[in-house]
Amino acid sequence: MDNRLCRMFGIDTPIFAFSHCRDVVVEVSKAGGLGVLGLARMAPERVDEELRWIDERIGGRPYGVDILMPSSYDSTGEGEAKFDPEALFPPEHLAFVRELLDSAGVPPLPADEAARIERELVSSFNFTRAESVAMLDRAFEHPIALIVNALGSPPPELAARAHARGIKVAALAGAPKHALRHRDAGCDFVIAVGTEAGGHTGETTSLVLWPRIVDAVAPLPVLGGGGVGRGRQMAAALALGCEGVWCGSVWLKTVQSEVTPEIKARLFAAGADDAVLTRSVTGKPCRTLRSAFTDAWDAPGAPPTLPAPLQAILWWGQGRTRAGLPHLPGRPDRGRPARGNFGAPGGAGHAGRTGRGQAAARPAARLRR
Ligand SMILES: Cc1cc2nc3c(=O)[nH]c(=O)nc-3n(C[C@H](O)[C@H](O)[C@H](O)COP(=O)(O)O)c2cc1C
Repeated sequence: MDNRLCRMFGIDTPIFAFSHCRDVVVEVSKAGGLGVLGLARMAPERVDEELRWIDERIGGRPYGVDILMPSSYDSTGEGEAKFDPEALFPPEHLAFVRELLDSAGVPPLPADEAARIERELVSSFNFTRAESVAMLDRAFEHPIALIVNALGSPPPELAARAHARGIKVAALAGAPKHALRHRDAGCDFVIAVGTEAGGHTGETTSLVLWPRIVDAVAPLPVLGGGGVGRGRQMAAALALGCEGVWCGSVWLKTVQSEVTPEIKARLFAAGADDAVLTRSVTGKPCRTLRSAFTDAWDAPGAPPTLPAPLQAILWWGQGRTRAGLPHLPGRPDRGRPARGNFGAPGGAGHAGRTGRGQAAARPAARLRR
């Protein structure tokens, strides 16, 4: 294909792959699309390590990074208080999660191991502006072609800094008013994400949202995201005026994806109506596979979910300090949480409504065929 987004990045096909997995990023970019690595929950040193790994394998093809900069929580996050669940969470919420784990028969790990895991996990949550800037400082040291801001418009200084280096900037939008703000903040294109999307999303369907955003920000290019897992869905996005697609869930089931085999099996077994929109994962509306965990939080009588990012820290920390860190095949360097596996009782994991068997476990590069 040849359109403005292909020319902007020198890519063959305007398929943009969001993934927390570096292998997916490399595979998609090498296949002629553009891989974008999610940096959420990465310490700056790990940003450096992951991007160096990509640089060594991607053969000079373009890739991007995606950052989460929540504005609703502006903790200075100093010292041990950040790691102390009793100080950070309301007792009712802690008791609820611990009871959930007890009733699912997940026993606590030995105290010293649990404390180590908790420190490692919770300290990797980046939720202050300073932490996000530190991550970006590291990212700027690598040949990134794109920065995507997931939560709101990029700050003007970020857009200016990126543009000065020839790096493009984009942001996710769930409504035309968000897209207009992104345009005014200096984005080079906008990513219109319909409610079908895995992860954080709004309530308007892709079919309705994409053309509204295309019209609102014209002539700025728009990518269509939310429920795209097949060529015919890409064709629909192009027919509605988008100039490419932004996909996330479809990569979870590829051989390059580092989600655990158990989660992959659940994704393959899931049908299109097994995904729910819930605040239980992060405190913001987020589409994920329905599980005992989401059911418990969404049931009448459950405590109200905490604001982001506390909700995620609460259950991630508590769950992992019981379940431990899954071993990642091919990553003997660390046991770190597999993306898409959030360690909840019942194994909650993000999954868009891409539906049963939409992507066989095969190399990501073949998905464009
Ligand atoms: C497991 C998973 C994790 C995600 N994490 C992020 C994230 O950290 N930042 C972000 O901008 N989007 C994130 N997303 C959303 C994607 O950027 C994208 O909007 C979405 O996956 C598109 O819809 P689809 O899942 O139907 O392809 C995530 C999606 C999934 C499936």
